[in-house]
Amino acid sequence: MKLFSHLFLFIILFGCIFVNIIWGKKSIARDVKHAQEGEINKKTEALLSRLTLREKIGQMVQVNGQNGQIPDEFRTAILNGSIGSILNEVDVKTLNDIQRIAVEESRLGIPIIFARDVIHGFKTIFPIPLGLAATWNPELVEAGSRVAATEAATYGIRWTFAPMVDITRDPRWGRIAECLGEDPYLTSTLGAAMVRGFQGDDLSAPGSIAACAKHFAAYGAAEGGRDYNTASVPGNELRDVYLKPFKACVDAGAATLMAAFNEINGVPATGNKFLLNDVLRGEWGFKGFVVSDWSSVTQLITHGFSENEKEAACAAVKAGTDMEMASTTYQTYIEELVKEGRINEEDINQSVRRILTLKYQLGLFDNPYTEPAAFPAVLNDNHKALAKKAAIQSVVLLQNNKYILPLSKDIQKVAVIGSLADAPHDQLGTWIFDGHKKNSITPLQAITEFLGPSKVVFAKGLEISRTRDTKGFQQAVDAANVSDAILLFLGEESILSGESHCRADIGLPGAQQQLVETLAATGKPVVAIILAGRPLTIGSILEKVDAVLYAWHPGTMAGPAISDLIFGVEAPSGKLPVTFPLAVGQIPIYYSHKNTGKPATKESWQKMYDIPVEAFQLSIGNTSHYLDAGFEPLFPFGFGLSYTTFEYKNIKISAGQIKMNETVDISTEIKNTGQFTGEEVVQLYVRDLFADRTRPVRELKGFQRVRLEPGEQKTVTFTLGAKDLSFYNRKMQQVTEPGKFFVWIGGNSNADLKTEFEIIK
Ligand code: NOJ
Repeated sequence: MKLFSHLFLFIILFGCIFVNIIWGKKSIARDVKHAQEGEINKKTEALLSRLTLREKIGQMVQVNGQNGQIPDEFRTAILNGSIGSILNEVDVKTLNDIQRIAVEESRLGIPIIFARDVIHGFKTIFPIPLGLAATWNPELVEAGSRVAATEAATYGIRWTFAPMVDITRDPRWGRIAECLGEDPYLTSTLGAAMVRGFQGDDLSAPGSIAACAKHFAAYGAAEGGRDYNTASVPGNELRDVYLKPFKACVDAGAATLMAAFNEINGVPATGNKFLLNDVLRGEWGFKGFVVSDWSSVTQLITHGFSENEKEAACAAVKAGTDMEMASTTYQTYIEELVKEGRINEEDINQSVRRILTLKYQLGLFDNPYTEPAAFPAVLNDNHKALAKKAAIQSVVLLQNNKYILPLSKDIQKVAVIGSLADAPHDQLGTWIFDGHKKNSITPLQAITEFLGPSKVVFAKGLEISRTRDTKGFQQAVDAANVSDAILLFLGEESILSGESHCRADIGLPGAQQQLVETLAATGKPVVAIILAGRPLTIGSILEKVDAVLYAWHPGTMAGPAISDLIFGVEAPSGKLPVTFPLAVGQIPIYYSHKNTGKPATKESWQKMYDIPVEAFQLSIGNTSHYLDAGFEPLFPFGFGLSYTTFEYKNIKISAGQIKMNETVDISTEIKNTGQFTGEEVVQLYVRDLFADRTRPVRELKGFQRVRLEPGEQKTVTFTLGAKDLSFYNRKMQQVTEPGKFFVWIGGNSNADLKTEFEIIK
């Protein structure tokens, strides 16, 4: 008994010491951070007080690099302190030379901050962001961003224009490739992970670069999926959907934000005081700075919002755009505007304060120069291994009839067909300023290496993805005829997505559909591997092919990743971050839609070809659907198969009722019921049944990636609290309403394992 009580005391004591150590460490870290902040504030204020108005304005100017050159005019501008930041200069020697002029020769020695679009890797290219989102793996996404940051910092880049956290529900929009999908929760989680990866715990540490959450805001809501187009979003929807990921990035410490090109409800983002000042700074307490998008200040004129450049500069500064990218209205007009009393110098001070603070935080005053040798080599094996892992986890298995995949590595011969099987440039995807095709390993190379050259026969079939000329078909058929299986690479080249590369028809371009049909007619098994920057409407090929691996643009390591998946070295585990439409006319189609007063069901859908001639048209019984395309997508959000199967059962909830300040645990058992080791992304969806403002039929509120050996079972638990269930009501208040909630857990947004609970007052 005595022994027992001693043991008990010891545990309590040890527990207290342990808690104290952890708590103590945390509070020491907090104190150090506060002290550093205090120090930086002091230095910033001291420096600010020495700046002339012209020098202040200089800090608010960002100009493009001059391709490794320092022309006289450029040198003079740096010397005069007329440039605060330079984008797109990546020649280290030039960059250090520029920095030397700024730091050693200009009056106050303020370093330049060099910026670049480091979107999904720098030299080692990771999958496009939409592909990264398909991993549903925040730790991996964070680690990948760290690699990108380290490689960029090696070249003196200390600020990236990423993450792009625009929500979009339109796959026609070219920039869907750059974003993290359609869902605010997934985008928030992964966007915050990217911010952490880029910035680390300490912005001044080697390999840390400042993040820039963009494009603030609602850029992805462009009408018709046409880039730069008008966004009309009701205020509460704006906050519930489009602003959420930005808030998550701000909470994760994002140093900067970029104002978007588009207008929102009639006010262009770059001149939008409500967004940049009231919401971002007022409500969210954002302390960093806002940069415009490329010439988006002068575009205030084109929008029809400002009359001329002077007015544009005035509107942008007053709204809270601290730095102007590319266009030159700040340099030209701010001084005049201040002298005329139209802009308060204190507003300029505020912008400059924010910019200088970041320069101090990055340690640029102490370490302005870049020494590449101090960093790990770019494209090193670790970086490439991580890029390969990300590529593997990004691939989504959409179909696998009769478990044709994985192919046996003892297969006698495979026909590798399609130009995208060997397209080292296109596999990298959009926004790869610094990636190079010479570093890519293509699927053809990797498959040939895996099987041995005698087992692989390659035919392009079509010269590029857009080719309409079918003269290469015969060679492809010949290759198929001497093989045991066809690995058919389809999709779109990288140039068909990305900024302003939008498409009205998102089917397979060129004669690819015909190529699929021709090869299917050989009777050989066909595995389609699709490389694309967006969801494509691939419904018509599904019945022609046996399996579909959707690989996005997977980056430098596309080849080894795809080869490992085809031959079962790894099992697919990617899940769709965006709904795949059946037909382009269904757009927008997304899982978290509203129920409507007349929701469609399989029974209520009137199919166009079943309608009798001269049928009487009436309203009763009609529902919200298309006669020709129904109401369901081709593949739902969150969908993705594996080589194994997972069984979900036994959903449990810790309480049927909770109060506003309580939480509820929801758990499920998940079992690997197949033959392969696999990873599954377990997803939790919620529906708030009745509300002041109608709520979506389902909303993602949690996910966890679990790895299971064959036969292994695990319990996965999620916790929900009132805050997770909040939304903006008609009065624009963020509320959680008492009432009933349905909860589903499963492997995609159609999960049917269900429970429910109620929130009471
Ligand atoms: C325009 C794009 O919209 C933005 O995303 C990018 O960061 C800038 N150009 C700079 O390249």
